[in-house]
Amino acid sequence: MTMFLVRTAARTAVRTNSCRSFCVSHTHLSDRKGLVLGVFEKKEEEEEGTLHLTEAAAGFDKSLSGKLSELLKLSGPALKNGKSRVFYGLHKDFPCVAVVGLGKNNAGVCGTENWDTSKENIRQAVSAGCRLLQDLEVSHVEVDSCGDAQSAAEGAVLGLFQYDQLKSKKKTKVTTQLHGSADVVGWEKGVMYGEGQNLARLLMEAPANHITPTAFAKTIEEKLAPHADRVTIHKRPQAWIEEQQMGAFLSVSKGSEEPPVFLELHYNGSPDSKQPPLLLVGKGITFDSGGISLKPSASMDAMRADMGGAATVCASIVTAASLKLPVNIIGLAPLCENMPSGKATKPGDVVRAKNGKTIQVDNTDAEGRLILADALCYGHVFNPRAIVNVATLTGAMDVALGSAAAGVFTNSDWLWEQLHRASVVTGDRVWRMPLFQHYTKQVTDSQLADLNNIGKYSRSGGACTAAAFLREFVKAPHWAHLDIAGVMSNKDEIPYLRKGMSGRPTRTLVEFAAGLAHNG
Ligand code: BES
Ligand code: ZN
Ligand code: ZN
Repeated sequence: MTMFLVRTAARTAVRTNSCRSFCVSHTHLSDRKGLVLGVFEKKEEEEEGTLHLTEAAAGFDKSLSGKLSELLKLSGPALKNGKSRVFYGLHKDFPCVAVVGLGKNNAGVCGTENWDTSKENIRQAVSAGCRLLQDLEVSHVEVDSCGDAQSAAEGAVLGLFQYDQLKSKKKTKVTTQLHGSADVVGWEKGVMYGEGQNLARLLMEAPANHITPTAFAKTIEEKLAPHADRVTIHKRPQAWIEEQQMGAFLSVSKGSEEPPVFLELHYNGSPDSKQPPLLLVGKGITFDSGGISLKPSASMDAMRADMGGAATVCASIVTAASLKLPVNIIGLAPLCENMPSGKATKPGDVVRAKNGKTIQVDNTDAEGRLILADALCYGHVFNPRAIVNVATLTGAMDVALGSAAAGVFTNSDWLWEQLHRASVVTGDRVWRMPLFQHYTKQVTDSQLADLNNIGKYSRSGGACTAAAFLREFVKAPHWAHLDIAGVMSNKDEIPYLRKGMSGRPTRTLVEFAAGLAHNG
């Protein structure tokens, strides 16, 4: 070949027919191989056109006697962070090579962003490169580790995910592999972290008529089947929930024709079977219509993801099992629909939670805190070392932080440190929120009962009053509530996630559990 064709990620891409026919004539469409390689930005003091290829890209360039760097200089301005360019016909094994911009080398942890910029840049760049190749119908992609194989794998696996099960026309299925043998262990870890988050995305995105409480429990059971030696699963039916006197949970489920399920997962990964477990509790409303306090119909479809807490908690346990983390984890997911009907709870009704506290249900749309109240009470029987509950709990959380970070309400500085550390590594951030008595006073003031479920001044500080409500059901010294309503879905703000339900913060939960596993 004497001529090499270039495609950029921009809309004005050069994509000629001759380029396409070149690829097709040399290899069969379905087994075309692609390669993603990284390039760092030049340092400020360096002159225009200075190239900083990654180790793998430099090796590839060398094998082609400098052809890649020559073309990179010829083909346009230096690649900015997250931008990519495709070269065709450079190498007989790789008809398409995507070069991606990684930003500054060694950017590291950023104190104001609260994440590791290098890792985020790698996720973003690799994801963009993989997607470009997917659009070209490349079915197998080798990926440069870019100096951090785990982040590269996460970018590839997360970037390529698309929920198209229910469409006739599907995107090209792409398999990925580490290019070279740099850090296979890191790559495989990244694949598991990414696949964990993708499992949560799948459950959240799926329509509510497909993922009912029963179907949710069955899916998780199937995912955990390969780990049967370390995992026990209980799918508790309605009769068990009644025996447990979970009156708050039942008050939500009773408006629906779908039976509730209380899913209980035990992952025994620690060599010490008596090690107190980490307890994860996830809100599992498979559809939140609001109940009698019916939500407006615009965007109500998004409430199919109101089981995001249960999805991320269960997906993180599946991932912990795949990673064989040496830690014990118990997962609890109260699963049901919140629907209006002749049998549904009415505003003003009073119900009794498992711990005997009475609750005036002033608004049936504040249902998440009701199902979590009973799950939290029950969870104490396991004498956990820490309790973390995760819930798409309040629209107010989205108003407060948007999709930048999940809110963490915790009574434990130690637990906060652990969660925060994990989130800096994963880039799926958390931010601490208050648990003042100020808010507790607003939920313990009820005309008919011990508590009311919306707070006295329902609109103000809604995420904080919801957290104060949950606290009434916790006795443990290390408890954290993650309100994930703001991070539930992605438009385009996290560049390595396509538009849709996000599966956040699964990777942060896994990294947090891994941290506990390794610190004893
Ligand atoms: N599931 C919703 C919260 C939600 C809203 C999650 C938007 C994700 C995106 C929750 O059950 C709810 O409806 N909360 C009410 C509480 C209010 C009635 C006190 C809310 O936030 O409006
Ligand atoms: Zn609701
Ligand atoms: Zn809800």
